[in-house]
Amino acid sequence: MKIVRTIADLRARARSGTVGLVPTMGAFHDGHLSLFRAARAECETVVVSLFVNPAQFGPHDDFDRYPRDETRDSQLAEDEGVDVLFAPAADELYPSDFRTWVDPEGTGAEGARRPDHFRGVTTVCLKLFNIVRPDVAYFGQKDAQQAAVLRQMIRDLNLELELRVLPTVRDEDGLALSSRNAYLSADERIRALSLPRALSAGRDAYAGGADPVAAARAALNGLDPDYVEVLELGHTKLLAAAARVGETRLIDNVVLEGELT
Ligand code: PAJ
Repeated sequence: MKIVRTIADLRARARSGTVGLVPTMGAFHDGHLSLFRAARAECETVVVSLFVNPAQFGPHDDFDRYPRDETRDSQLAEDEGVDVLFAPAADELYPSDFRTWVDPEGTGAEGARRPDHFRGVTTVCLKLFNIVRPDVAYFGQKDAQQAAVLRQMIRDLNLELELRVLPTVRDEDGLALSSRNAYLSADERIRALSLPRALSAGRDAYAGGADPVAAARAALNGLDPDYVEVLELGHTKLLAAAARVGETRLIDNVVLEGELT
């Protein structure tokens, strides 16, 4: 696996066959690895980007303490057969005279709760798409609003790539894997389980013809949600929620109807 730091070096590499891109912020877990595997199975060249994107963190978010371990991450990527790890420094993507942004509208409850977050996500992803020029880009259902916003950007800006969304990978107890789970104390880790359990209760209620949002809210077991909402991702209907457990903000969702594509 080649580690590439600059846009010029990435562009200078010979391209062969279908190129798959998996954008990440590192601190890899099995959710990330499932995207690498899907890309490896479908594409001749697999590029993973590792960049903790300052533009998508708010002033009170966890940018400074976001987990970073490039040595571990590059070993995991190499073990999955990734061809290129693109790990630029911040000023490679945001030089001091940077001043053009993508500004997505209609970013749901998650966007309303995190001003400028999706502007940072769409801008960095458009840059990565232009730098890597993938045929297919891989994202996780875990961040469903992110996938919905990016799918809309690809359509609105006529980008020539396919976006694939892969199912959320969970721990055995049901908690969605997230780099931010590392912040949870043992006690918080147990309380966090109320989030996936509430979403399951919402999904069961929906299957029985009842209101999934009300059912999930009723099953949160003391967790205070930022929101619980029904979200459309293409033809898929999802039940999504965010809640804070101690200092850590967790998001999760389940499919109510349809299939991920
Ligand atoms: P990051 O949080 O590192 O996630 C990278 C990709 O892994 C995203 O597509 C995310 O949805 C997916 N992912 C995270 N947890 C997952 C899980 N439990 N199961 C399956 N997939 C999972 O999302 C970002 O980075 C950034 O916003 C990024 C797109 C890289 C732009 O900076």
